[in-house]
Order: sequence, then C-alpha cells, then structure tokens
Amino acid sequence: MSLFAALKLLHMGCAFASISGFALRGYWLLSGNPLLRTPPARILPHCIDTLLLASALGMLVIWGVSPLALGWLSAKLAALLLYIVLGMVALRFAKTRKAKCTAWLLALACAGYILSVAYTKQPLGPLASLL
Ligand code: HEM
Repeated sequence: MSLFAALKLLHMGCAFASISGFALRGYWLLSGNPLLRTPPARILPHCIDTLLLASALGMLVIWGVSPLALGWLSAKLAALLLYIVLGMVALRFAKTRKAKCTAWLLALACAGYILSVAYTKQPLGPLASLL
C-alpha cells in the first residue's frame, strides 16, 4: 500500500469517527447523558480531529498542492471551519435547548455537505451533475 493510500484510509476512518462521534455527543447533550462529561468523550474528539487534519495535510504535501488551489478543497476547508464553529456553539456556547439542537443539526448538515464534496470532488457536491 502506498503512503498516499494509507493516509487516505486514515483520513476516511477519522472522518467517519469524527462525524459519528459528534452526532453521538450531540445526542448525549440533548438527552442529558452524563457520559458526555467523561474523559474519553472530552479528549478523543481532539485526537481524531488532529489525525483527520494531519492526514489531509500529508496527502496535500504528497500531491504538492495548496488547499486553496482546487475549488473542492477550498469548499471542504471552508465547510470544515463552519462545522467546527457550529459544533462549538452546539456543545459549548448555546444556552437554550432549541439553540443547541439547531446548531447541532446545522453542523451535521455541514458534515453531510463535506462528505458529498469529498466523494464528488465538486464544490456543489452531487448538485454539480444537475448543471
Ligand atoms: C470533516 C472534515 C472532512 C471529512 C468528513 C473528509 C472526508 C473525506 C473522505 C470521505 C474522503 C475520501 C473520498 C474518496 O473516496 O475519494 C476524503 C479524501 C480527501 N480529503 Fe477529506 N475530509 C475532511 C476534511 C478535509 C480537509 C480539511 C482537507 C484539506 C483541505 C481534505 C483533503 C482531502 C484529500 C486531499 C482527499 C483525497 C482525495 C483523493 O484521493 O482524490 N479533507 N476526505
């Protein structure tokens, strides 16, 4: 297996772990589950997200491209920033249950968009095939 293939496998594994972990933590938050405050639930997401970004960086170094050089990579990066901000609002800053739930759902929609861009390599995701 090439180094690129290994990094991509790691990246994809971390991507799915990151999104499913975020979905679960949001569910725990809204259902008042104390598991949300346990050390693994607090520390693991940071480790997974660091590996996700490090593997993305590794692939870009092997390709020799900047993330801003390709439209779909720029779109992914911008959506990732939005996903992080919405995630922080949902899990940390929102005060009311409605605000937490709205930010959590918007962050999950953002993650869905990132996945669609990752697979189609189009900033518009699957919508690009309709144009
Ligand atoms: C939550 C954030 C992210 C998710 C869910 C995600 C998801 C994925 C997935 C599922 C793939 C595999 C697609 C395929 O099979 O072709 C992929 C590939 C890739 N991602 Fe990400 N990604 C994320 C963030 C990023 C970021 C921030 C970058 C860099 C700006 C990046 C760069 C790449 C690259 C270079 C590939 C390889 C594409 C290829 O082999 O053609 N990803 N990503």
